[in-house]
Amino acid sequence: MIVLDKEKHVFTLHTQNTTYQMKADENRVLLHTYYGPRVEGGDLSYLIQYADRGFCPNPSQVGQRRDYSLDTLPQEYSTCGVGDFRLSSAQVEQPDGSRLLDLRYESHEIRPGKYVLEGLPAFHGQGGETLSVLLRDPFSGVEADLLYGVFEEYDLITRTVQIRNRGDRPVRLTQAASLCLDLPPAGMDFITFDGGHVRERWMNRTPLRPGVQSAGSTRGTSSHQHNPFVMLCERDAGEDHGLCYGAALLYSGGFQVEAELSQFGDIRLVMGLQSQGFSWQLNPGETFTAPEAAMICSPRGFTPMTHRFHRAVRERLLRDPYAGKRPPVLVNNWEATYFDFDEEKLLNIAKVAAPLGIKLLVMDDGWFGERNDDFGGLGDWTVNRRKLPGGLEELVPQVQKLGMQFGLWVEPEMVSENSALYRAHPEWTLGAPGRPAARGRSQLALDLSREDVRDYLFGALKNVLDSTEIAYVKWDMNRSFTDIWSAALPPERQGETPHRYILGLYELLERLRRTYPGLLIEGCSGGGGRFDLGMLYYTPQIWCSDNSDAIDRLRIQYGTSFCYPSACVGSHVSASPNEQNGRVTPLETRGVVAMSGTFGYEMDLCRCSEEEKAVIRRQTEDFKRYAPLIREGDYYRLTVPFQAPGYTAWAHVAPDRQEALVSLVTGSTWAAQPFVTLRLKGLDPAARYRINGGEALWNGDALMYAGYPVPLMQGDYQALQLHLEAV
Ligand code: DGJ
Repeated sequence: MIVLDKEKHVFTLHTQNTTYQMKADENRVLLHTYYGPRVEGGDLSYLIQYADRGFCPNPSQVGQRRDYSLDTLPQEYSTCGVGDFRLSSAQVEQPDGSRLLDLRYESHEIRPGKYVLEGLPAFHGQGGETLSVLLRDPFSGVEADLLYGVFEEYDLITRTVQIRNRGDRPVRLTQAASLCLDLPPAGMDFITFDGGHVRERWMNRTPLRPGVQSAGSTRGTSSHQHNPFVMLCERDAGEDHGLCYGAALLYSGGFQVEAELSQFGDIRLVMGLQSQGFSWQLNPGETFTAPEAAMICSPRGFTPMTHRFHRAVRERLLRDPYAGKRPPVLVNNWEATYFDFDEEKLLNIAKVAAPLGIKLLVMDDGWFGERNDDFGGLGDWTVNRRKLPGGLEELVPQVQKLGMQFGLWVEPEMVSENSALYRAHPEWTLGAPGRPAARGRSQLALDLSREDVRDYLFGALKNVLDSTEIAYVKWDMNRSFTDIWSAALPPERQGETPHRYILGLYELLERLRRTYPGLLIEGCSGGGGRFDLGMLYYTPQIWCSDNSDAIDRLRIQYGTSFCYPSACVGSHVSASPNEQNGRVTPLETRGVVAMSGTFGYEMDLCRCSEEEKAVIRRQTEDFKRYAPLIREGDYYRLTVPFQAPGYTAWAHVAPDRQEALVSLVTGSTWAAQPFVTLRLKGLDPAARYRINGGEALWNGDALMYAGYPVPLMQGDYQALQLHLEAV
């Protein structure tokens, strides 16, 4: 609900449990007055204190007043170069060469329905309202329209900014953040999710210290190294207590998020596009729209924040052809065969898979062009007839005869120099003339900012998709961007290339989605190199990591879970010893971990023993039974991986609390272990539950407050799955 106090120019956004407020003061400065637990009370600007602070400049219009400074006041969208030395939200090079931007309240509008962002991912929903607050630089023609969407039942506030040039000469935008959040002094921690390829989204929590702490990506992708989801929380906050804020950017390119602890202890969080290398020429009358950011404040710890993000993402972001339906369990041939496969090998895998309950065969990299290793072939999206002599037309019906659907890997954004496409169109790649572009995995990036390139790719993909029945596409992308330069843009617009690339990618994906609405597209960038809410808008699931080791995945999936629901997390059972780290784990354990995601297999099933096949058959049956719970249930982190008590546990609980699936994985074993009990969460305290169909009835309150005695387990990396049903 948006409440407006017209006289005082106070704008209050209420969600079910939180309140967010801003106020345009007598100098037309838009002050941020509050974001926290819901309060009904009117103007909260009494919280703001004024004092004469040394070296904090005073705007000219306040005359000799010394206690009024942009440097000390909480800003709704910070300015640049005119007296606030903390993080800026936008930077503009004005026609006179100055880099000054002052933004003052001009007008506002409350519109029914949530704003729509043309060409950008965004939360969507019927009903709701939009608050638009227009700010203007009094000395140039630059305007910033701050847009807010309120999703009350999710405690979700979305926001973005549209920067417009109302002047008569071009200006150059060099920063356009989506979110600026000023919080009052408090001991707070900054939580980011960081790592690298095969080690994505490890949680890092550090107290804010004076100055700026940041996470971001200059790779042109949201990256394996950092994630565009961060948290701020009270120092003692945990899963079930303490004030915390989660902020996510719906964007798949380079981003930057910075948290600043100022000289007076107040905190500023700024999140948006990566500024390094970014510039955007805004001609008179033109508007730049920043990507959407999403914020959730939880007054009671991480778990409620996670639940709200998960529900909002599932219900208001994903456009999943399997929404509310059970997705097919898949087998992917990558770790089974790599590039070395032919029709016979694939069909042999499918023949073993079908009776085990696996419903989708995915043919990964290597089926097209001269793609026999990762040095060539990308760009030539026609079947390699040496591997598949009868083409897809012959292969797919054979797979379907086994009762399975067929899926395909593609990497459309990339090209190998050894390809017909590159030979025909070297100018379609990113790279400056006379400067040989760096290769990544021996490949170059196509320039998706170009319409002709996108048209070509759409046509090439359409040819493949129209040639037979394809139920699923894995959309991969395997390098970081370098040599950012587009042959289609003039020199003064080269700074637009990275963002135009992402807009092009979104446009291509949207075109594909609209043409093939039933097609499930799984995103991938060497695993989780582009795991963000932007991508999820187009590809409702993303291969979480190229690391398929169940134990490493515990930490990766733990970090991922803070913002992203299990239904989005691509997760498969692979062979043991694991291909990435050589670890040996039981098949049961690999199944339990992969089930906290989209679930599938990525191993040569032809090599499985009869005992292993029996386990797999049971796992696929279990997943089919548990899928609604895993995909739509509330997720509880019950322990922190690799910390005491030595095992990792989590649970999915049905929204009506009548059913739950508890998963637990032990670490490496040792003798004479202590007895442990696991305290469950989210159950109905008054309900009685049957566990794994057993006779005994367990009280919900006892399971939560006293716990469940975990049986002693022999051997490394054992797993336990408890299926609770209320009687
Ligand atoms: C990287 C992906 O993450 C893998 O799953 C696989 O598809 C390879 N690329 C294929 O080249």
